[in-house]
Amino acid sequence: MSPRPGSDTHEGATMIEVRPVRDRAELANLFDLLGARSPDPLDSSDKRFDDLSAHFPVDQRLMVSAWADADPVGGALAFRHDDGTVILRTIAVVESFRHRGIGRRLVERVQTEARLLGADTVALGTGEEVGFWYHLGYTPNLLFQWVYDPELYQRESEALLSGPLYGLRSWRSSYNDVAQLFVELDEPRLDLHRTVRDAVAGCHVGFMMSKALTQQGAAP
Ligand SMILES: CC(C)(COP(=O)(O)OP(=O)(O)OC[C@H]1O[C@@H](n2cnc3c(N)ncnc32)[C@H](O)[C@@H]1OP(=O)(O)O)[C@@H](O)C(=O)NCCC(=O)NCCS
Repeated sequence: MSPRPGSDTHEGATMIEVRPVRDRAELANLFDLLGARSPDPLDSSDKRFDDLSAHFPVDQRLMVSAWADADPVGGALAFRHDDGTVILRTIAVVESFRHRGIGRRLVERVQTEARLLGADTVALGTGEEVGFWYHLGYTPNLLFQWVYDPELYQRESEALLSGPLYGLRSWRSSYNDVAQLFVELDEPRLDLHRTVRDAVAGCHVGFMMSKALTQQGAAP
């Protein structure tokens, strides 16, 4: 069987097709399938679906799904945040299909499509799966977002920077009026992540991973 245009297939015990989602209904169903496997389960009624829905169909090529025959077995859903950055909102592979290279294929497909759209960076938030992203060439930062109690921002950020994060490069910003602190790491530090998570009450703590995309034909 020859692959359909725009699709990407591998021979193996089961043939896996990787292709963009076809329509909004498929996008919502896939988000639910992936969201159920997220460390922080969510479904398409969550506001984190809204960016994806709003960017469909313009960024359809960044919303990719993996299929075994007629069954969805994984996906990676991304959209353009601005001209330079693609945000990968969610990725998962169904349990029985993990460790076969499908996650890597999904990420590489998103990166290829992002390059074709002229983006220079892919970024995403993660937690315990930081090792997967580091293995695929993504740079880790710790990200603190004062969503639970914004009033604790000054006190907690100062305590972090003079305590467990002392000496690390950091910068502050805000997103949708939420105060944020980024801390640069040179490798995944799950131990540090757990230490700082236990030390704060007002903020969500995660990893923000990013990868610079080299354009094809450009010097490495
Ligand atoms: C993360 C996830 C998508 C990986 O999917 P997968 O299909 O099993 O991954 P792959 O088989 O393609 O692995 C790709 C590479 O990453 C490596 N890898 C996978 N998980 C890893 C981890 N936790 N730490 C380090 N390396 C890891 C693999 O060894 C493989 O290496 P190789 O290509 O050099 O041989 C899958 O585990 C999953 O769905 N997890 C639950 C949902 C989730 O946590 N999503 C991420 C939220 S950001």
